[in-house]
Amino acid sequence: MLGTLAMVPVALLVMVVMMGTYTVDEGHVAVTYRGGALLNTLAYPGFNVRIPFLDDTRQVQVTLQTDEVRNVPCGTAGGVTVYFDKIEVVNRLSADRAVETVRNFSTSYDKPLIFDRVAHVVSEECSTSSLREIFIEKFSELDDRIAGALRETLERWAPGVEVIAVRASKPRVPQQVKANFELVEVERTKLLIARESQLVMGLQAETEKLVAQINARQEAEVANITMAKRLMESEAQRTISAIADEISTARSRAEADNEHYRAVRLAEANKRRLTPEYLQLVQIQAMANATKVYFGEKLPSMYVDRTSPQPSLGS
Ligand SMILES: *[C@@H]1O[C@H](CO)[C@@H](O)[C@H](O)[C@H]1NC(C)=O
Ligand SMILES: *[C@@H]1O[C@H](CO)[C@@H](O)[C@H](O)[C@H]1NC(C)=O
Ligand SMILES: *[C@@H]1O[C@H](CO)[C@@H](O)[C@H](O)[C@H]1NC(C)=O
Repeated sequence: MLGTLAMVPVALLVMVVMMGTYTVDEGHVAVTYRGGALLNTLAYPGFNVRIPFLDDTRQVQVTLQTDEVRNVPCGTAGGVTVYFDKIEVVNRLSADRAVETVRNFSTSYDKPLIFDRVAHVVSEECSTSSLREIFIEKFSELDDRIAGALRETLERWAPGVEVIAVRASKPRVPQQVKANFELVEVERTKLLIARESQLVMGLQAETEKLVAQINARQEAEVANITMAKRLMESEAQRTISAIADEISTARSRAEADNEHYRAVRLAEANKRRLTPEYLQLVQIQAMANATKVYFGEKLPSMYVDRTSPQPSLGS
């Protein structure tokens, strides 16, 4: 009985010690409320001490954390509402400003600062954009726009929270709208293809023109070369015939010279021959010829020069 009584203060002590110490996880800090008021002290990871029954401690994360904002509605300018399944916001609370931030916005500071703000920014963006823009043209910028809007707000109202990145999933579109949308996309693609093929055809025509030009130029060059060759040939032909003419002229001149020479020599020879005796002989022969009719065949031998040829009949 006494033993049991002795156990009571021990158990009380153990309880007080257990209530008076607490642990903080790695990557977190702890703030303390005493009587409902937030103290300025900050507890770091490991064992920490508090006043049992009076203090209430709460942990907040100070490493990178990802807040997933789910099912964010997006009412487009065209009146269709689509939903973003998930928008992730990677953010971090600065340990230095943890107490101040918790004082301003409580430990669930990310509810007003991130969750509500993201929904607000998305609804603002959507109200000025068409479905097409949200889905395709503006979608790639959406992450940056949300991040920019968040940073602006945080800088002004909660400098302890920093936004690192924002990732939005593709919005979910109602089935009916989706069907129309796809139809429009198909038509659009067709238009694009038509434009492309026009471009290709233009290029083809251009290429053909170029080829034709090149061919024509080649032909012209070939013709030019052929022409030049012919010119050269006829030039050569002319030269050859000029040379032949020259040769023949030279030959004719040589022949004429020869003729002249022979004539001169003949004349000289004749001159030497035309002695008085010779002339006399010729005279006699002429006389003989003239008198042939009267003497007939029987030419008196006294008139006949034995050395000269015999007169022949019928001359
Ligand atoms: C807390 O709120 C005060 C007053 O609005 C503001 O000046 C201060 O910057 C805020 N601090 C943080 C860390 O949110
Ligand atoms: C033909 O040849 C002449 C001289 O060789 C040159 O001046 C002319 O440009 C050429 N024409 C073409 C079409 O090649
Ligand atoms: C005489 O006749 C002979 C032959 O009939 C002829 O060769 C000769 O030249 C003539 N002579 C003359 C001077 O006519």
